[in-house]
Amino acid sequence: MSNRQFLHFSALPMSTRMVYTMTLLVLGTGYLFAMLQVFFSHAGLDGNPKNVSAEDIRVAYHGSEGDTRLESALKGPMADMLPIEERAVIFRWVKDGATREGYESEVKAIVENRCLACHDGESNPHLPNFSSFEGLSKVVERDTGATIPTLVRVSHIHLFGITFIFFIVSSIFTHAYMRPLWIKCVVIVLPFLTILTDIFSWYLTKWFPGFAWFIIGSGALMGISFTVQWVVSMWQMWFYTLPAEVEECGGVLPVLGRSKD
Ligand code: HEC
Repeated sequence: MSNRQFLHFSALPMSTRMVYTMTLLVLGTGYLFAMLQVFFSHAGLDGNPKNVSAEDIRVAYHGSEGDTRLESALKGPMADMLPIEERAVIFRWVKDGATREGYESEVKAIVENRCLACHDGESNPHLPNFSSFEGLSKVVERDTGATIPTLVRVSHIHLFGITFIFFIVSSIFTHAYMRPLWIKCVVIVLPFLTILTDIFSWYLTKWFPGFAWFIIGSGALMGISFTVQWVVSMWQMWFYTLPAEVEECGGVLPVLGRSKD
């Protein structure tokens, strides 16, 4: 027995189904662009620009625990510019917090000797300028991930925006016929729950990088739910015939004499 209030897509006027179809088409396109946006803003944070990995998500929210730009350069392309002992002095300085005192007492002399030939801001203006403490500080800044104001801003946009999207998509999807009923309910409830777990995990990831997996999991479940609702709605709207016994109370309702307009 179906609920008497349940109206299958097939019982809806053609014009309503067209509104639903076009809305789903545009929202589906929007979802694809949202995925592209995730890719462009996250891929490569971990050094590999080909995909979005858990490490990318971790770096985005928690920051990078890896080397600063200065350390990477001194281990890589700049390694030959100074003797190992002097390099060790610079590494220790970075590790101890890259203070101005440390710079004045030890680092300044090394940099003047070994680096300023090129990094003086004049001989090659494209290179970082190390002629002052401020200049050198720019390449030792720790990356601490997204700031709280940024997270708050993106949170409220996502909470409002995504709720709107799923309110629309799942209101359309309520007209689908799906058994057992609990699966339909799960598919409807899931995105609203995962938007909450997603956003709270951003903050948790800022402090505990392991929560990056919650962000990924929430996003995946949300995507699955969106896809199921989208595909099932489109398909049942245009290509599906309700089982005969359901049709009486949930599908085309001859009793009410629904017209096709
Ligand atoms: C002979 C010229 C020369 C000297 C001397 C030199 N560098 Fe460089 N440095 C370059 C060039 C050219 C690049 C950019 C190309 C590259 O990254 O390989 C660069 C890049 C860098 C970068 C990377 C900047 C970024 O965008 O991340 C850092 C950091 C750096 N150098 C630090 C140093 C330090 C510290 C010293 C001294 C110990 C030093 N360099 C000495 C020529 C020099």
